[in-house]
Amino acid sequence: MRFLITAGPTREPIDPIRYLSNRSSGKMGYAIAAAALEAGHDVTLISGPVNLDPPHGAQFICVSTGDEMFDAIDRQLRSCDVLVMCAAVADYKPKNISPEKIKKRDTNFSLELIPTRDILASFSKQDRQFLLVGFAAETNDVEENAQKKLRDKNCDLIVANEVSRANSGMESDENEVTILFRNGEKKKISRAPKKNIARELVKIISNMREKCLTKKK
Ligand code: C5P
Repeated sequence: MRFLITAGPTREPIDPIRYLSNRSSGKMGYAIAAAALEAGHDVTLISGPVNLDPPHGAQFICVSTGDEMFDAIDRQLRSCDVLVMCAAVADYKPKNISPEKIKKRDTNFSLELIPTRDILASFSKQDRQFLLVGFAAETNDVEENAQKKLRDKNCDLIVANEVSRANSGMESDENEVTILFRNGEKKKISRAPKKNIARELVKIISNMREKCLTKKK
C-alpha cells in the first residue's frame, strides 16, 4: 500500500525574515511514516520545517508554505492509496508579503490576513481512489469539533486530539487520540508514546483501505 503523509507546520511569510506558523513539531506525522514503513508500506512524507530526521526508506519532500504543500500532494496523489493529512497547515496567511524587512515603528501595526486554501477539503471534493485521513487538534469540545470536520472536510476518518494539555498533543512525545469514523463509530487510543499510537493508526488505516478495495472488486 502506498501512504502519502504530511507532517509539521507550514510557514507563511510576512517579509524576508518573518513568518506566521504554529507549534507543530512533526513528531506524530513522522511516527506514522515510520510505522507505515515498519509495516511494509511505501511511504512519501511531505513535511513542513521541523527538527527531525526523515525515517529511513521514505521518499521525502520538504516544503514551507501551505501552497507548496498543496502542489507537492497534488503531484503525488494519483499513485497513492492513503492520504494522511497530519500537517498543521496555517489557517491564514498575510495578504501581502513585504519584499523588504518591515521596519519597527512606535505606533501600532496591523497585518491583513487571508484564509489559506484548505488542502484536505479541496482534495476530498474529487472523485477519489484513496482513503482520506484528517487530523483535528482541538483545545475544547474535541469530539464535537472533530465530528464537524469529518463531515465538512468529507474525510473517511478523522483523528482527534486535545492539545491544551502539556503532556499530550503538540510538541509532546506522547498523545491520546479518538478516531471518528463516518458510520458514527469511534475508537479511543489512551495516552501512549506517539510511536505506539502511530502503529495502531497504521493498522486501522490499512485494514480500512483493504476493506474498501475488497468491496470494489
Ligand atoms: O480545520 P483544521 O485546521 O482544524 O483541520 C485540521 C485538518 O485539516 C488537518 O488534517 C489538516 O492537515 C487539514 N488542513 C488542511 N489545510 C488547511 C488547514 C487544515 O489540509 N489550510
